[in-house]
Amino acid sequence: MDITKLCDQHTSVVGLQWGDEGKGKIVDILSEHFDLAVRWNGGSNAGHSVQVGDQKYAFHLIPSAILRPQCISVLANGVVIDPVQLICEIDSLQQRGITFENNLKISSQAHVVMPYHSLQDRLAEEKLGDKKIGTTARGIGPCYADKASRHFAVRMADLIDPERLRSRLAHIVPEKNSIFQALFGSAPMDWRPIFEEYVPLGQRLKPLVCNTTTLLHQAMASAKRVLFEGANATLLDLDHGTFPFVTSSNCGTGVCVGTGVPPQAIGRVLGVVKAYSSRVGGGPFPTEQVNINGEKIRQRGREFGTTTGRPRRCGWLDLVAVRYAASVTGATGLCIMLLDVLSSFDEINVCVQYATPDGNTDEFPADAIELSHVQPIYHTLPGWHDELNLVHSADALPKEARAYIGFIEEHVGVPVQMVSVGPGRDQTLMLG
Ligand code: GDP
Ligand code: IMO
Ligand code: MG
Repeated sequence: MDITKLCDQHTSVVGLQWGDEGKGKIVDILSEHFDLAVRWNGGSNAGHSVQVGDQKYAFHLIPSAILRPQCISVLANGVVIDPVQLICEIDSLQQRGITFENNLKISSQAHVVMPYHSLQDRLAEEKLGDKKIGTTARGIGPCYADKASRHFAVRMADLIDPERLRSRLAHIVPEKNSIFQALFGSAPMDWRPIFEEYVPLGQRLKPLVCNTTTLLHQAMASAKRVLFEGANATLLDLDHGTFPFVTSSNCGTGVCVGTGVPPQAIGRVLGVVKAYSSRVGGGPFPTEQVNINGEKIRQRGREFGTTTGRPRRCGWLDLVAVRYAASVTGATGLCIMLLDVLSSFDEINVCVQYATPDGNTDEFPADAIELSHVQPIYHTLPGWHDELNLVHSADALPKEARAYIGFIEEHVGVPVQMVSVGPGRDQTLMLG
């Protein structure tokens, strides 16, 4: 299939596992054919890698489309923005010769991650000890909590207006001090130095801030094509993931909420799936392999976090979980990533059902306690030994690799439309 056939409608790209499926690579490739690319959830907890030739990029807040000069990159309402991280990302890209001031837009209604959010994230995790979630410590949960509770929220519209920021911080920080002191016994913070530090950050970002909902609606009305870049992934979704071991946004299901775009506008949903499973942080992981197989996957797949550098937990592909994620996201097509990592296994296991105390099931229990009690039931497929990195067409894949893809497609019930056999742009095979 020609890639442009996947780019003729507004398209949402979303991870169907626990993150790090290769969403950044897919967005980079597709964005060549889109006019706008929109991050709509999460914040700098995301780490999206893009490789162009020998150049590697790791995006945390900036959309992975930023390398495409014709594509406007948008941070929509649902993103939580740490201005220090964002400016750091902007500066480091500019130092690498990438200029984009005119094609990066930030929603005035996006919430701002303040230093007390990251502090609260760290202190809360420390206090939980071995019950911790294993967050990225980027302040994501506390910022979304303040958004939901409303009284302590700071939005981009506040950040870029010094008087509004002053009044927000003078109200919020003393309240935070009482809470932090009671919960963590921490020393009080003074709001004034925070204000002094954040005013210039707001002024730096101000030219990029606008009403992104209007921007998106106008773009769609004038036949521009929009690509939506999900961060984190469906099994980390606040409402549909393995709660409480999730992130604090609707990272599988919230594209309309995060952007103000209506559901019927989105014509295609590409579910990004690793050819195996990985997870960072705590929480149940039925197919985890704490053995030589897991270690082999980690080494071959270089499974170390893009944001935190933590070794990722690795295991076999879990089709019960992927089928569930495909259904809640409405995936219309799958992108199977990192297939090359599985070369050199004699046999590959794929989980097709769970054994539970009440019998076998096809259903994914999106509840951490229930999920921690299931046992995976595996189907074993023959592996292959050829390296795949130089394969340029699906027909040239070893027959065992083609059978593996066919098995995934059949069990998930969604067509596989792309297969990735390396981090590079040209290591991408189109199917169908
Ligand atoms: P994201 O968070 O979903 O964007 O994924 P990450 O960027 O965190 O992690 C995916 C990693 O796999 C990155 O280092 C990519 O460069 C790399 N990658 C993407 N696709 C492939 C592939 O097909 N094969 C290999 N070996 N690496 C890949
Ligand atoms: P990308 O977009 C993998 C995980 C964290 C932790 C949990 C909560 O790169 O796929 P948080 O800091 O969000 O409160 O952490 O969610 N997590 C991710 N894991 N990839 C991500 O993003 C993640 N974003 C959050 O490891 O377990
Ligand atoms: Mg990542």
